[in-house]
Amino acid sequence: MTTRSITEMRNEHQVLAELTYEPGSLERGYANLALRIDLDKNVIETRQVTEQMKELWVGGKGFCLWFMFQEINPNTRWDSPENPICLSSGPLGGTASFPGSGKTLVTSVSPLTYSIIDSNVGGYFGPYLKFAGFDALCIVGKAKDEVVVYIDPVNSRITIETAPMESIDSHLLAEELTEMYADDEMDKRNIAVVSAGRAANHVRMGILNFSFYDWRRQVPRMKQAGRGGIGTVFRNKKLKALIIKNRDYIPAWRIADSPVAQAIQPKAEDILETDKAEVRQIISRWNDDPEYVIEMMQDIQDRERFISRASIDHLNKITGVPKAQLYHIATFYKAFSLEPRGETTIQVCVGTACHVRGSGRILEAFERELDIEQGATTKDGKFSLEAVACLGCCSLAPVVKIGDEVFGNVQAKDVTKIIHGKRG
Ligand code: FES
Repeated sequence: MTTRSITEMRNEHQVLAELTYEPGSLERGYANLALRIDLDKNVIETRQVTEQMKELWVGGKGFCLWFMFQEINPNTRWDSPENPICLSSGPLGGTASFPGSGKTLVTSVSPLTYSIIDSNVGGYFGPYLKFAGFDALCIVGKAKDEVVVYIDPVNSRITIETAPMESIDSHLLAEELTEMYADDEMDKRNIAVVSAGRAANHVRMGILNFSFYDWRRQVPRMKQAGRGGIGTVFRNKKLKALIIKNRDYIPAWRIADSPVAQAIQPKAEDILETDKAEVRQIISRWNDDPEYVIEMMQDIQDRERFISRASIDHLNKITGVPKAQLYHIATFYKAFSLEPRGETTIQVCVGTACHVRGSGRILEAFERELDIEQGATTKDGKFSLEAVACLGCCSLAPVVKIGDEVFGNVQAKDVTKIIHGKRG
């Protein structure tokens, strides 16, 4: 964090344009409204999403392309003011019940290929945009000074603001803006920031960083839309950041409400005594609020090294979240285990880059050395072994993660040494 105070930075903001609006509800996955922001003219306007758009341009990429074709002409280059940056999450965006439904699609004319490029990315921006009442966002024009765009469905307000003092580097900027726009510590998870960082001012391969607040580390972390140099287009528009606030939103359909989930409520005698006090303490730390059930489960997983049946029962009884949903979460996310894990988890990446560089042999070497198969835990409870998809550092392939430590360029012959080092 920089030495400038957040209040000082905020005081320097000048509102260049403002739109007040009433965020509507979603209908079959659509908000039926899109948002267009012109940084040249400082105009914020909404566009109706038609039935024809939903038929012909379905999905996040479809809506982005629909906007692209409204804005560009045969002479549009990547640095033309009319080159739009479009963001959308599609009709399943934010449902959190299907893989990929948390993603955002981004499109623009690329500075690398000179044609339309799309990139998809995690982080919270896409779902929050949908909850804010918009199926897509399109940004055109170039600002005169450094600006941020703030979408605030809680206060029904969207603004373009000058932002002269904030950092350019994404990791600092996301921290500053999260602090600036959150009401309090708990509210930080409701802020998502998109930015491009300093390098995007100088290279054509600039990426976009999408933040999500990691409450465990108490910092915003980033996911990247890395294809095609859209970050370079972003900075070329003098756009410092897009910021969005989450609005409490109840989706039309939730696993929690299904008849199956409702039918399997626990009886009081089902609750086991094991670790009752510790689990109770963890749940209380989150004010027994069902909104934070994943966070509670992460704390329980950290403490117990698995999510026991007793813990599921406690969570269900205290928060009211149905057991079916709790099991859905526990089995969907790799971070959770219904069986006790070892003191240290060894993850061998078998993603594409690691696979082609021999991760299969490394996994076999770990299985031999530990005398277990992947997915199992050693008898002494020291190590669990997992084969996982991309760990996000492909340039170091093949990659192994042991606890929090990442090992790159690992070879099968290194495995014995690594394990001995870890056994101490
Ligand atoms: S494929 Fe292994 S780190 Fe990406």
